[in-house]
Amino acid sequence: MNSYEEYYDLVHDNTFGIHAKARFFVRYGDEQELADAIGWRQAEARDLPLLHIGSGSNLLFLDDYPGVVLQSAIQGVDVMEADDEQVVLRVGSGMEWDALVELCVTHGWHGLENLSLIPGQVGAAAVQNIGAYGAEASQHVVAVECVDLTDGTVRRFEAAECDYGYRTSVFKTRLRGRYAVSRVWLRLSRRFVPDTTYGGIAEMLSSQGIPVDEVTASQLRDAIIRIRRHKLPDPAVQGNAGSFFMNPVVDEACKERLLAQYPAMPHYAAGQGRWKLSAAWLIDQSGWKGKSLGPAGVHDRQALVLVNLGGARGMDVVRLCQAVRQDVVRQFGVTLMPEVNFIPDIPLDKLSL
Ligand code: EPU
Repeated sequence: MNSYEEYYDLVHDNTFGIHAKARFFVRYGDEQELADAIGWRQAEARDLPLLHIGSGSNLLFLDDYPGVVLQSAIQGVDVMEADDEQVVLRVGSGMEWDALVELCVTHGWHGLENLSLIPGQVGAAAVQNIGAYGAEASQHVVAVECVDLTDGTVRRFEAAECDYGYRTSVFKTRLRGRYAVSRVWLRLSRRFVPDTTYGGIAEMLSSQGIPVDEVTASQLRDAIIRIRRHKLPDPAVQGNAGSFFMNPVVDEACKERLLAQYPAMPHYAAGQGRWKLSAAWLIDQSGWKGKSLGPAGVHDRQALVLVNLGGARGMDVVRLCQAVRQDVVRQFGVTLMPEVNFIPDIPLDKLSL
């Protein structure tokens, strides 16, 4: 049974903890309930805009939302294929991502360990292509089942049709707003091949007395959780949306110019002669780490995270975002772009401050 709420406060549905009211809010439990909600909107609320959210761990509400907000509560993990080597799971989009990672580690289905503790739902993970510690969700996605928000029909996209890239997919670009993810198919391995190469993991394991070549899946998950808890603020305590900016990708000339001036600057090959820089490092160097502007701040342990210091509105965070971007561009000539989705989706240069 769908629940329809009017003038619903989204404060618990965005990890920034920002108060914003949805004109209507609908949480659905399966594809049929979503199709019913789409039919209801077309009959009763045709002129209102539609927004689909997950658990709001990557959203910034700039204002109240004047339309219909949809949220998946589709649960369930079904094993669709299984042999000695691997399993294919079909997972409800409303399941919490980390609950899935935990379940997989418990069952000996491997590959998601490095993505432990990432907030958000499974559906959003497939849209956003979440990533951390050298792993990305898209490495495991087989297919994504979606409901077409124009007519309620179900359509399946194979992974190759999803155009996965760094923190992006076709659902964020060409098909933005058209589909709601209902189920995600993931392929996992029964063989555990730990990836401990990413900065911080080996150090964390050794501090716990665990040799890297003997680490178990649950020990690796535990180490990732410890690293994240140490660096990233808990949204339940201090509102935030994880990394606020994407790491910028620049050309060779830009990287060389910056390295000549800042030889210690972290940089990673991004393919095709391009280089990924660390937004956290750039912000840190610009002096913003641990600083604040009104009720919005730059986290003191990870400069890529903007936090709600208490009572912030969306525009307070935008103001800080713009101030940080301005200083980074002035000092380094590099333009940072938010990873967080602004609702409404106003281009940054159109946001008056
Ligand atoms: N650094 C600084 N100052 C800081 C933080 C980091 O100089 O305040 C430097 C570090 O020394 C390191 C570099 O920046 O050289 C990279 O830092 P880190 O390893 O913490 O990763 P990141 O690039 O800042 C990305 C993801 C995170 C993910 C981590 C770990 C993006 C936008 N962010 O951050 O994802 O957890 O790697 O893999 O790609 C998220 O998307 O919400 C998120 C938290």
